[in-house]
Amino acid sequence: KPNLLSGMQPSAGSLHLGNYLGALVNWTKMQDDYNAFYCVVDLHAITVPQDPKELRQNTRITAAQYLAAGIDENKSALFVQSHVPAHAQLAWVLMTLTGFGEAGRMTQFKDKSQKAGADSTSVGLFTYPVLQAADILLYQPKAVPVGEDQRQHIELTRDLATRFNSRFGETFVIPEGVILKETAKIYDLQNPEAKMSKSGDPKGLVNIMDESAVIVKKIKSAVTDTDAAIRFDREAKPGVSNLLGIHSAISGQSIDALVAHFDGKGYGDLKGEVAEVVLAEIEPIRDRANELLADPAELDRLLAKGAAKANEQAEKTLATVYERVGFIPAA
Ligand code: TYM
Repeated sequence: KPNLLSGMQPSAGSLHLGNYLGALVNWTKMQDDYNAFYCVVDLHAITVPQDPKELRQNTRITAAQYLAAGIDENKSALFVQSHVPAHAQLAWVLMTLTGFGEAGRMTQFKDKSQKAGADSTSVGLFTYPVLQAADILLYQPKAVPVGEDQRQHIELTRDLATRFNSRFGETFVIPEGVILKETAKIYDLQNPEAKMSKSGDPKGLVNIMDESAVIVKKIKSAVTDTDAAIRFDREAKPGVSNLLGIHSAISGQSIDALVAHFDGKGYGDLKGEVAEVVLAEIEPIRDRANELLADPAELDRLLAKGAAKANEQAEKTLATVYERVGFIPAA
């Protein structure tokens, strides 16, 4: 089986519907056909300030959600990034191959650093995509399932791998991003031109760990438009299109079938049904995640098992890299 790697940040206290539909659903599907490594990227989380106690809790919450959504710890390695020292070690080597301008062109860095201002932007945020490249390249994966917003980081990863290979000899597999077309981007319910994100409007953000009543309220207050027709048109009707997209992603019905189904009905009907579909999908995951969180020692044991598997693969790649760049063996 080919290898696969992906990861998510633990910073929000809960994954949101965009993380789930854009990436996690695909992770669970792909784990049968790939030797998969799924990571909670706590090193990435600290590129913006984190409360240590909350970070610990959020890391376990994220891992519990992976499991609750169907990641099987016997098929895939589920681990925490800081448990595998090779991530930071390879990132250092790759940083020496990354251009200052090249890193400066990453749009997520530009957005985040512009919002925060230069004095509140850490150097870690600047080098974030290089650490992400290290996460990926250590596992020699063919596939990296992510949402649309990660496309540029995957491109950088491919460029760095190609650069390393041509300078030091074939070392890294060049990975492909696997981006689901239909759910590549789930939009903010309050601001449906922007992606759903933990840094967006909290009312526009559906969290997997939210109470059911909260989820229903957020979906029922989703922004639509003044024209009452239920059609799919991202430009003219971003809010309605987002709701149709979410429904379709979960129910498996095509957009055309849904538009026919809602013919003659109103936005209230659409929102009511989307809320039902979302709850039916999310509630069991939330409840299972809460059960897992009730036994943190068991969760930590699963994560230790995943880290052992990940370390084995990662150390192999790092040893080759160290040797290729000219470091002498430590022995
Ligand atoms: P993160 O933690 O922001 O998001 C995790 C995954 O969810 C996807 N996603 C979305 N998909 C659709 N619609 C949305 N609104 C939406 N919001 C988020 C993201 O594309 C991602 O797949 N840099 C990464 C974490 C990372 C990583 C890696 C990913 C670190 N190392 C190695 C892959 C491989 C990030 O911040 O994702």
